[in-house]
Amino acid sequence: MKENNNYLASLPLLFCCCVLLCLAESSADNDNNNNNNEVYIVYMGAANSTNASLRNDHARVLNLVLRRNEKALVQNYKHGFSGFAAHLSKEEAESIAQKPGVVSVFPDPILKLHTTRSWEFLKYQTQVKIDSLPTAANSQSSDTIIGILDTGIWPEAESFVDTGMDPVPSRWKGTCMKSTDFNSSNCNRKIIGARYYADPNAGNDGDNTARDSNGHGTHVSSTAAGVNVANVSFYGLAEGTAVGGSPQSRLAMYRVCTNFGCRGSAILAGFDDAINDGVDVLSLSLGSPSVLRPDLTSDPIAIGSFHAVERGIVVVCAAGNDGPSSKTVVNDAPWILTVAATTIDREFESNLVLGDNKVVQGNAINFSPLSKTPDFPFINGESAKTSSATVSDARQCHPNALDGTKVKGKIVFCDGQNDTYSTTEKAFQVSQAGGLGMVHVTDQGGSVTQFFGNFPATTVSPKDGAPIFQYLNSTSKPMATILPTVSVIKYKPAPVVGYFSARGPATLSSNILKPDVAAPGVNILAAWLGNGADDDVPQGQKPSAYKVLSGTSMACPHVSGLAANVKSRNPTWTPSAIKSAIMTSAIQNNNMKALLTTDSGSVATPYDYGAGEITTSEPLQPGLVYETTTIDYLNFLCYIGLNVTTIKIISKTVPESFNCPKDLSPYQISNINYPSIVVSNLKGGGAVNVNRTVTNVGEDDETTYSSVVDAPSGINVKLIPEKLEFTESSKTLSYQVSFSLSSSSKSLNGDQFGSITWSDGKYSVQSPFVLTN
Ligand SMILES: *[C@@H]1O[C@H](CO)[C@@H](O)[C@H](O)[C@H]1NC(C)=O
Ligand SMILES: *[C@@H]1O[C@H](CO)[C@@H](O)[C@H](O)[C@H]1NC(C)=O
Ligand SMILES: *[C@@H]1O[C@H](CO)[C@@H](O)[C@H](O)[C@H]1NC(C)=O
Ligand SMILES: *[C@@H]1O[C@H](CO)[C@@H](O)[C@H](O)[C@H]1NC(C)=O
Ligand SMILES: *[C@@H]1O[C@H](CO)[C@@H](O)[C@H](O)[C@H]1NC(C)=O
Ligand SMILES: *[C@@H]1O[C@H](CO)[C@@H](O)[C@H](O)[C@H]1NC(C)=O
Ligand SMILES: *[C@@H]1O[C@H](CO)[C@@H](O)[C@H](O)[C@H]1NC(C)=O
Ligand SMILES: *[C@@H]1O[C@H](CO)[C@@H](O)[C@H](O)[C@H]1NC(C)=O
Repeated sequence: MKENNNYLASLPLLFCCCVLLCLAESSADNDNNNNNNEVYIVYMGAANSTNASLRNDHARVLNLVLRRNEKALVQNYKHGFSGFAAHLSKEEAESIAQKPGVVSVFPDPILKLHTTRSWEFLKYQTQVKIDSLPTAANSQSSDTIIGILDTGIWPEAESFVDTGMDPVPSRWKGTCMKSTDFNSSNCNRKIIGARYYADPNAGNDGDNTARDSNGHGTHVSSTAAGVNVANVSFYGLAEGTAVGGSPQSRLAMYRVCTNFGCRGSAILAGFDDAINDGVDVLSLSLGSPSVLRPDLTSDPIAIGSFHAVERGIVVVCAAGNDGPSSKTVVNDAPWILTVAATTIDREFESNLVLGDNKVVQGNAINFSPLSKTPDFPFINGESAKTSSATVSDARQCHPNALDGTKVKGKIVFCDGQNDTYSTTEKAFQVSQAGGLGMVHVTDQGGSVTQFFGNFPATTVSPKDGAPIFQYLNSTSKPMATILPTVSVIKYKPAPVVGYFSARGPATLSSNILKPDVAAPGVNILAAWLGNGADDDVPQGQKPSAYKVLSGTSMACPHVSGLAANVKSRNPTWTPSAIKSAIMTSAIQNNNMKALLTTDSGSVATPYDYGAGEITTSEPLQPGLVYETTTIDYLNFLCYIGLNVTTIKIISKTVPESFNCPKDLSPYQISNINYPSIVVSNLKGGGAVNVNRTVTNVGEDDETTYSSVVDAPSGINVKLIPEKLEFTESSKTLSYQVSFSLSSSSKSLNGDQFGSITWSDGKYSVQSPFVLTN
């Protein structure tokens, strides 16, 4: 990280800002409050509990803190759930953790935005359209409200114009918080709410506003619910119409992130307010890094979303960008709709032309000023080695390995076999050494496009890299040029799972499949800051009002918009029914009618994409839905180790008679009525049975669904019954799935994947299943 830091500081114009880097940094040294105590979150379960003794606990514990120091309080949670955040000493925190009614006490964590895997890897990817989702309804406006927890919003962006929208729904209780650069006139019938939460440690007035100074919040908001804006582009690239997933929905921004990151205490405050304000969908393009994943009871997103879902709000979260390693998915609680990222069918090509006029396909965004004839000297990094560097370091264009006199005025060819340094860092090394341009061979670029401004740099795949090596070896005066970027549409295959997209299995419980679905999150064009305060502007250009970004951050609001469309169409549906509709209508094929693949070309699995790539109109009428109840979620809490005392504090709706099931084995988690199925511990000799219940939500009360099972070889899958006959009096039916190994096998040959599809000829309802040893 250190090199990156220096690198950033020294090249602000070309590769820009430190926002994401700063976000990743720890908060520990930011403490400058009056008593130097760290901020702790005290989580006390449901708000307004029917149990009077629990209701009083909040006041009692809070008073303890305030009596000592009335300035200690940072946030007070009392609408959606109960608790507070305060400056506390370690001893106080430990003592409060023992008080009645306290579920957990934990240091205020810093979460980060899920824009990019890391700032340098994906930054400023380019591609295209957010018009991948059509308008669901004909009306110009609906009463569905999408709340967004993010970096704030740029209200003047054209995507947030409210022309033709009906008045703000009367049930809305939110507000438009005033600050020096934001007032009620910045809210309209599109942006109906805007709140901010000051960072207790940053002490920066610039953060005391709902106005976005980062761009991320504006980008995701316009992807979720921006209106149609014709003729937008990223510096002329990816021209087209920008429109959000649910252009008729309303937006409420909860600014919980500053340039120091997204504080857990602020995220919980955002949830607390959003629940009370009356949002229908919450969209969170942020989370913990996968390596610092907290326990459920100290995870602000898991806690906040539990209460939001209990109140009927759909919560959609980014899966994270720490892929492609397995077990990297975050935000994996079963009540969350967790979203992976895929490409769309537009690519940005910046091709390399060799001296023999052979064209090699390159992937990058640059505004290369080089002429189109290949008459620029071209050199292998290895041939430009400094005397002190190793051959390997020079070949990879590592820092201090390139001799300036040898690369001056030349295009430098860099190998990417060693992934210690990113493409942008190497481009920087080459430009610092006086190089004219750079070609990087990397399998990490893939679908993810890097932004290089005016510097002629591009990436090629290892497959395309080999002939370049050959060319360099075959001629004494190699020549080349790098062509400026053009956007290529109808690119195939698409979608492809993004390299960075976080993967399952889930760590909270591997018996719930995560991520849940995949949506476009690579090279997404959406609204950006309109103040020109963007240090990433190519020379000689005006700042762009639209920007191309990649990350599960960009995928998440596509699904939030879709969830809002389902909710608009079916206002009484529960969050789990909406989630089920989106999952069971997802697809697993790409635009070549082949199975979805990952960035590396291998066939993707439910660990990559969950139920599959979202579809846009099918979820509006899914036929059947799997309802997951609060009791299912409470049982899940039992299975992961919470006791019934704690669970009764957490849940508002828990019946007095609730008790944890006697059998707390992971097998029971497989039996939670989830729209996907994971069965672990499948061994030879016996069957594992799981049950599911579906509700008919189609137009016809009387309809018969039959089943189709796609089972991996060596596995028997039996459904009982094989047909589901719905009638007016039986809208809800259960079935049992029995998994067993075929007689010859003793154990599974690795994790196995398949699907169960129920169909009545009109609707098709598909659930993926995963079987593990
Ligand atoms: C209320 O909660 C307290 C603390 O958890 C518990 O001891 C008590 O039994 C509860 N009272 C009722 C009526 O449930
Ligand atoms: C809970 O009670 C507080 C204080 O009476 C009130 O402000 C809040 O709106 C209530 N929350 C809910 C969800 O009823
Ligand atoms: C609100 O802000 C707008 C522009 O940002 C300004 O023109 C207007 O005077 C402000 N109104 C109030 C009441 O401060
Ligand atoms: C779209 O923008 C281009 C320039 O980028 C301009 O030439 C064209 O007239 C615009 N079209 C519309 C419909 O505004
Ligand atoms: C990659 O390069 C770094 C920096 O030169 C070096 O420390 C590391 O050993 C290299 N890794 C491999 C696998 O060669
Ligand atoms: C090109 O030459 C280098 C040594 O200069 C060698 O390592 C490499 O294998 C050669 N590549 C090809 C494709 O011939
Ligand atoms: C329930 O769990 C909490 C937190 O781990 C613990 O403090 C408490 O003693 C437990 N209660 C019972 C009845 O086991
Ligand atoms: C699943 O359903 C079957 C048949 O209705 C029932 O016998 C069994 O007890 C159920 N299993 C579980 C774990 O609920």
